[in-house]
Amino acid sequence: MSWKVIARVTDVEPGAVKACRVDNIPLALYNLDNEFFATHDICTHAQACLSDGYLEDGKIECPLHQGVFDVRTGNPVSGPVDTNIKTFAVRVEGDDVLVDLD
Ligand code: FES
Repeated sequence: MSWKVIARVTDVEPGAVKACRVDNIPLALYNLDNEFFATHDICTHAQACLSDGYLEDGKIECPLHQGVFDVRTGNPVSGPVDTNIKTFAVRVEGDDVLVDLD
């Protein structure tokens, strides 16, 4: 376990996604109805930041070729993506959002 603070709870509005970086790892932090999820920020298809994409119903659409991932599981939902995006465990402590980098 390697928990690191990556944001404040108020940094990401419900329904929004935010780019974060910790230990030089680019992450996308999602707020789904005040439940937080985190994935690696770089799409598994090519070089695009999922945090620049479109978030709806717990799915993030990549801004480059419109591949879609389920942010809870990291599973690809719609092509051209066919490889999972890495997910990270998230917990909230007070006003802080932490991710487990292991
Ligand atoms: Fe994300 Fe192509 S870079 S779908």
